[in-house]
Amino acid sequence: MREGSATLIRREDYLAPAFWIRTVDLTFDLEPAKTLVTSKMQIERNSAVPHGPLRLHGEELNLLRVLINGDSVSFRQEGHELIIEGAPDADFTLEIRNSCAPEKNTSLSGLYTSGGSFFTQCEAEGFRRITYFLDRPDVMAVYSVHLRADKAKYPVLLSNGNLLEAGELDNGRHFAKWHDPFPKPSYLFALVAGDLVAREQRIRTRAGKDHLLQVFVRRGDLEKTEHAMNSLIASIVWDEARFKLPLDLERFMVVGVSDFNMGAMENKGLNIFNTSALLASPATATDADFHRIESIVAHEYFHNWTGNRVTCRDWFQLSLKEGLTVFRDQEFSMDMAATPSARAVCRIQDVRQLRAMQFPEDSGAMAHPVRPDSYVEINNFYTATVYDKGSEVVRMYQTLVGRAGFEAGMKLYFERHDGQAVTCDDFAQAIADANPGSALTTRLDAFKRWYSQAGTPHLQARGSYDAEARTYTLTLKQSTPATPGQADKLPQVIPVALGLLTHEGQALPLQLQGEAAAAGTERVLVLDQAEQSFVFVEVASAPVPSLLRGFSAPVVLDDGLSDAELLTLLKHDSDAFNRWEASQRLALNRILAAVRSGAPLVLDAAYIEAMRAVLRHAELDAAFKELALTLPGEAYIAEQLDVVDPQAIHAAVEAARLQLAQALATDWAEAYEAHQVKAGYAPDPVQSGRRALANLALAMLVLNATQSGDSVWPGRAYQRFKDAGNMTDRLGALSALVAAHAELAEPALARFHALFKGDELVIDKWFALQGRTPELDGKSFARVKQLMQHPDFTLKNPNRARSLIFSLCMFNPAAFHRKDAAGYVFWAEQVLALDAINPQIASRLARVMDRWTVLAEPYRSAAREAIARVAAKADLSNDVREIVERALASEAKGEQA
Ligand code: TRP
Ligand code: ZN
Repeated sequence: MREGSATLIRREDYLAPAFWIRTVDLTFDLEPAKTLVTSKMQIERNSAVPHGPLRLHGEELNLLRVLINGDSVSFRQEGHELIIEGAPDADFTLEIRNSCAPEKNTSLSGLYTSGGSFFTQCEAEGFRRITYFLDRPDVMAVYSVHLRADKAKYPVLLSNGNLLEAGELDNGRHFAKWHDPFPKPSYLFALVAGDLVAREQRIRTRAGKDHLLQVFVRRGDLEKTEHAMNSLIASIVWDEARFKLPLDLERFMVVGVSDFNMGAMENKGLNIFNTSALLASPATATDADFHRIESIVAHEYFHNWTGNRVTCRDWFQLSLKEGLTVFRDQEFSMDMAATPSARAVCRIQDVRQLRAMQFPEDSGAMAHPVRPDSYVEINNFYTATVYDKGSEVVRMYQTLVGRAGFEAGMKLYFERHDGQAVTCDDFAQAIADANPGSALTTRLDAFKRWYSQAGTPHLQARGSYDAEARTYTLTLKQSTPATPGQADKLPQVIPVALGLLTHEGQALPLQLQGEAAAAGTERVLVLDQAEQSFVFVEVASAPVPSLLRGFSAPVVLDDGLSDAELLTLLKHDSDAFNRWEASQRLALNRILAAVRSGAPLVLDAAYIEAMRAVLRHAELDAAFKELALTLPGEAYIAEQLDVVDPQAIHAAVEAARLQLAQALATDWAEAYEAHQVKAGYAPDPVQSGRRALANLALAMLVLNATQSGDSVWPGRAYQRFKDAGNMTDRLGALSALVAAHAELAEPALARFHALFKGDELVIDKWFALQGRTPELDGKSFARVKQLMQHPDFTLKNPNRARSLIFSLCMFNPAAFHRKDAAGYVFWAEQVLALDAINPQIASRLARVMDRWTVLAEPYRSAAREAIARVAAKADLSNDVREIVERALASEAKGEQA
């Protein structure tokens, strides 16, 4: 079954294709068991590569015939290739007929069925599971698609572009013909056939063109599409306003599907979404879900320019479209949030995500540059590094050339490359060329190390004040740790946005040595050496530096600030991000001290009073307060330690939580009452901030009460759970009970399940909540094992598998890392079970062990044994094999170092 061999693909081996496919006419006779595909391609030899056979990709296909210019031709099949030696030099027509089996396709790559309908997923290399093709992004063709299917079962027939014709056929079948005028790579092809209904909206864009927007979902889900439609309209308006990029199609379609490997896919004119990233109603989705849907709808829409109009030459360039598009969706979300405080909340959440997912990736077995140098399975490189660090790299361009300069760079990028498949170098060059003389352009080669060097740079900052000379010297040093395959690193270009505050919290005017006068109270220093000093003059008193404002570079900052200085920033910094950062650093210092010393954590009065002041603050927004009062995540804490004992980290965090709950009990109660939302539900920043803070307060109150045997707050939480008018409040109350292991948790969970039986996205939440329950005496782990037997559980649906298994293994370290190794045994079993069904999902789960070499004993040895057990399995997918082999190899590298 797994005939493909695990070859390492290298970026430096890139060769242009020997042939171009200019047009392709596809005909599908859709049947779940056996779908017939006929493909007629107009092919030209690439004049730059005058020799060599035509080699087409194909996997899991049944080949029926091959004709060149209408005549049969000799060919051979080798592994996953169809090879035609005698392809003509002159332009020719190639006709291929094959079949595939959508119903048996559990990997959800290629053409598959879900809930009785047909869907495709072609990125990165799924098109070759539909028909034989040059399935690589630099081969761009114009597609015509002819779909035929049973009309009763599949009344809706969709593909990319414009509908040309539709009509009836014999035997209860019907057809539709689609044409996409834009040449595109095969990974952007899509078809959908099924019993779906659509929400429709007509819009007129600035250019005065009319467009039809459609959101297709299963019957019954239509009322949950309003938010997605609004998000789509907002995205269209925003891209026209901010980047002057218009919608280029008459029709733009979005389709939801329950079985899907990722969030969503940007197929030209026919975006396909995981229902979890599309459907929302106040009763079934949380504020976080509404926010996520808005950002993913925007992300896929923005790909229409950054990814589709200009695409990637090869998959090593993935961040060209993903990093840039994440940056665009983050900017969109901030602009939608509107107020400065709500914008800062967006930024804080994005950075928290980066630190929780990308930083560990960058220091583990899978560490790779934003532009990787090699891969075995490209699906393994849809990573936090390519997406989220990639987005930070794009943000640094903007920081270095300014907002207007960045927009000019984007304009030049599209002028040069519209309709092309290009590289990250082309993007960098366009931004630089549009900004001659800028801080970027004068350092472009060094800046591009962000694409080639893996690992998170460490930035050390130390200041010294000379009272007599009234100068403040800030010395910045950088170094990047070794990563697998990359021992030595060169200095990177690090924009450091900063301000200086007096100890009383006033912003100081900034004047660097050599400048005639002070200018402003914030600026961006550019560090491009291993070490550099910057001298500020006319500084009236010893300042507190506020560094890396807005998280101006994706680095680990060591600023050596004292508690007193952090408290000054927490109280007074004009940069909301650094204000939040101070709150986190205060907590982190205490948790790390406890973990390192092994002594029980005892929170001091200074910290508690600072947190009380945040909670009671008259002006701070509720959303900000919630973020500042939430303790750093266990994964981020683990990142700060050379040897990781997950149980010790968990114990310290739990102790800190409990003490905050106890010490601020009356303040939490006041905050809970003061932040009730009386108005009708809207997922806007103000309302969702209030709900977030009220839910945090409730969780603290229930925790404190449960520990002291008091039943009032658990009772109130249960009441709120029952009466809640929206999912955010309902789930907030439920998770407060579950997290505290309160007695009422059981009846509440049972009631929740009964209430939402049959609503798969809500049942996913029910599983996820239990999978993430903080561990207490092995109870959480035991519950997950038990839930694996629940009639609603299945490994086949990725959302469901994620909701339970990933919640435990990825987001519940104390339940997962057990002294008896049962968590790792469970992990190995589930990786293998998933690999037989869906390698992409299995390999995501496999990555849980990326950082096993830093674990303390006995976890480390037990982890190695579990990984070795998976690696020993005979017919592993390439996906999982690459992950476990890299994990095992990271030990050897660690020992060499
Ligand atoms: N390109 C998609 C996005 O970022 C994500 C994607 C890549 C994907 N590969 C996939 C989605 C496989 C589903 C399955 O928007
Ligand atoms: Zn994307």
